[in-house]
Amino acid sequence: MSLLSKVNRKTSLSKFIDRDENLKRTIDTKDLIMMGIGAVIGTGIFILPGTVAATTAGPGIILSFVLATIVCSLCAMCYAEFSSALPIAGSAYSFGNVIFGELTGWVIGWGLILEYMLSVATVSSGWSAYLQSFLRSFGIVIPKAISANYNPSKGTYVDVIAILIVVFISWILTNNVKSSTKLNDIMVLVKIAIIIIFVVAGIFFVKPGNWNPFLPFGVHGIFKGSSLVFFAYLGFDVIASSAGEVKKPERTMPIGIIGTLLICTVLYILVSIVLTGIVPYTDLNVSDPVTYALQVIHLDKLSVLISLGALAGMFTMMINMIYSSSRLIYSIGRDGLLPQKLSKINKKNNVPKRSIIFVTIIIAFMGGLVSLDKLASLVNIGTLIAFTFMSIGIIPLRKRKDINNSNGFKVPFYPILPIVSALACIYLLTQLSLETWLTAIVWFIIGLVIYFGYGIKHSRTNNEK
Ligand code: ALA
Repeated sequence: MSLLSKVNRKTSLSKFIDRDENLKRTIDTKDLIMMGIGAVIGTGIFILPGTVAATTAGPGIILSFVLATIVCSLCAMCYAEFSSALPIAGSAYSFGNVIFGELTGWVIGWGLILEYMLSVATVSSGWSAYLQSFLRSFGIVIPKAISANYNPSKGTYVDVIAILIVVFISWILTNNVKSSTKLNDIMVLVKIAIIIIFVVAGIFFVKPGNWNPFLPFGVHGIFKGSSLVFFAYLGFDVIASSAGEVKKPERTMPIGIIGTLLICTVLYILVSIVLTGIVPYTDLNVSDPVTYALQVIHLDKLSVLISLGALAGMFTMMINMIYSSSRLIYSIGRDGLLPQKLSKINKKNNVPKRSIIFVTIIIAFMGGLVSLDKLASLVNIGTLIAFTFMSIGIIPLRKRKDINNSNGFKVPFYPILPIVSALACIYLLTQLSLETWLTAIVWFIIGLVIYFGYGIKHSRTNNEK
């Protein structure tokens, strides 16, 4: 078989379904929405509405969130159609494999690895910073050398808390998925409650004068701001990676994905309205704007409560993202593009233990040692590339006679919406910095070396028949 036909060979849906038969369908709509909100609301809501307002968009941040919501809603509909038509593990990686072929699937999957793992690593260091500032208010101080990532000039070598929290979450996930779902539900409810408390308490302190000028950075600030706050929405797509484990996927997946996005959007927009209404946007360039705003209006006790909520919020984000990362690695291993050992399911509790351990090592390493300031924007690039493929992919998906989605969700106004969605993602990609692009290119070159050095030889699709 020629190289071109090898890399373009598509895996059939029925083969994927056979390969996933060892996963059990236990997740319902409520679980999925809880997972979605769990994964989406992390550091974004507690930091970005403040810092982006101060530096990029002013009170117009509210419109940046609206714009990011529109782009994400379009992509969410495309994801919903894909996961309804192709109820298999692996999200955009597997979808890309079925629709575009193995190499494109691999490139999308490689981008998703970047998104999932780096976003958890970013949040794990955020979690560590929040916990340390919380502990400091009780006089407890962690030794400097082990308080942050490797930066000898500042006297820090490793962020032990970031590592421990990732290892702890993985331990929960490898031991029992059901109890971790319950823990997740409780934490998600706490997180939503805390955000609502902030909005309700803060609304009485809003001074409309703080919204004037509304667009101090011009209209451009809204667009630039939306490419930054996009990070806050990441995560709704990862629930698609559980499509192999949900009950009635053709109904559950669309409701789960779109429901998650709607709830998060309402919360984000409310927080940005209240935050920029309480404090002048120029004062919001701090690492904990939500807590800071409460201190400005002398609600100090509430700010401690909000810190706890932020910790719970980030914790659920990490649980859900690590869970989804392990499903992604499981899927890639299942198909032989990474060692198949990674897709082994633990018989006792039905979880892909090895893939969880694999992602834990990488995330803990990055969260504990690497400075993630610059790497964080890489998260967006991996995601937007996957979103672009998923949007445009609706067109070939509808043309496939072997895939029956007659009872499932379909993107309305086909083919206009999928095309607009792809163009919107490409626009946001152009807003990212050159440095981010160059680093991403290095990442994808490494991915191609792995594919041509290992994946193509061990691919199950290429070796079957
Ligand atoms: N959406 C996630 C967050 O805001 C990545 O932390």
